[in-house]
Amino acid sequence: MGIFEFIGIVVFLYYLINIILWVVLDSDIELWLKERWGKPIDTLRGKVVWLTGASSGIGKQLAIELAKHHVRLCISARSGDRLQAVKEECLKQSKLLRPNDILVLKMDMLDISQHQRYFDTVVNHFGGLDILVNNAGRSQRASFEEIDLSVDRELFELDVFSIVNLTRIYVRHCKSRGHVAVTSSSVGLISVPNSASYTAAKHAIHGYFETLKLDHPTMDVTLFCPGPTHTEFLQHAFTGIHGQNYNQSVQATDRRMTAERCAVLMAIALANRCQINFVGPFPVPGLMYISCYYPNLRKIILMILGKSGLQKIRDTTAPAN
Ligand SMILES: NC(=O)c1ccc[n+]([C@@H]2O[C@H](COP(=O)([O-])OP(=O)(O)OC[C@H]3O[C@@H](n4cnc5c(N)ncnc54)[C@H](OP(=O)(O)O)[C@@H]3O)[C@@H](O)[C@H]2O)c1
Repeated sequence: MGIFEFIGIVVFLYYLINIILWVVLDSDIELWLKERWGKPIDTLRGKVVWLTGASSGIGKQLAIELAKHHVRLCISARSGDRLQAVKEECLKQSKLLRPNDILVLKMDMLDISQHQRYFDTVVNHFGGLDILVNNAGRSQRASFEEIDLSVDRELFELDVFSIVNLTRIYVRHCKSRGHVAVTSSSVGLISVPNSASYTAAKHAIHGYFETLKLDHPTMDVTLFCPGPTHTEFLQHAFTGIHGQNYNQSVQATDRRMTAERCAVLMAIALANRCQINFVGPFPVPGLMYISCYYPNLRKIILMILGKSGLQKIRDTTAPAN
């Protein structure tokens, strides 16, 4: 076999293996490798992690997953009752954590003027903060032209500015050390129909956090991008009208990742201090790879799928807006 034939076969096998992995995996290849051969979640044992948006969905499951590995937690959101229930579940799942190891912090992320006070509460309680996980956020369903500018502003206030403000407080505190994470979304990397403000907000988050990593190379910055996940998010999603909630339930039959699985993958990303990961059921990982690395192929696939095909991948059975 000549050298060129050999190189040709290696390149062919490389792409073949990649394409097979895009189809069978529920995450990007890096995260799959870390799950098998990377640092286990247990390396986070004893660390202090602050999870915003921990009263339901991905944040709640991540709290439970981390508690199983005896991570000390601050769990925050607006609903104190639900946080208390999450705390009890966490204590049940962990044999080592004591009530004082899980701080319930009732907090509205939009209350920006109080962020420093909340931050001080956490740091005084634990004597430090190892990882800040910005998870609180709301999605959106509305056609581009229907969105009132007040909704763009309201959504950015929660999904971007509240996160940026809390993160700045953390960065000032830990002086270029430390670890900050954010639950972004697959829509932070590729655009989807029917969610212009949300897509733009998640893109903005990538801009902020990628620049943070450049400004402070010694800080760990994790951008975690889930695809469709089973949570309550469609109920609370913004629409195009100020003050209105989308109020749809995710159906049990929808093709979505479970919040539990999403939380396990996110915990692995945190333990391995990964920079950017995406997760989701088929065909999300493949679409993400194609969108990020093969823009011409992306154009062809988007033409074939069309707007309705993309919406179906995202919401399966939820009525299109
Ligand atoms: N589900 C998906 O398909 C999906 C996909 C990609 C990315 N994500 C992202 O994942 C994150 C979590 O969403 P989820 O799907 O788990 O939805 P969820 O179940 O609705 O959880 C959202 C969390 O954010 C909190 N929250 C909302 N507004 C808040 C505020 N003003 N102040 C403080 N906390 C607030 C909620 O708690 P309270 O209501 O008690 O305040 C809740 O704990 C979001 O950033 C979302 O963009 C979700």
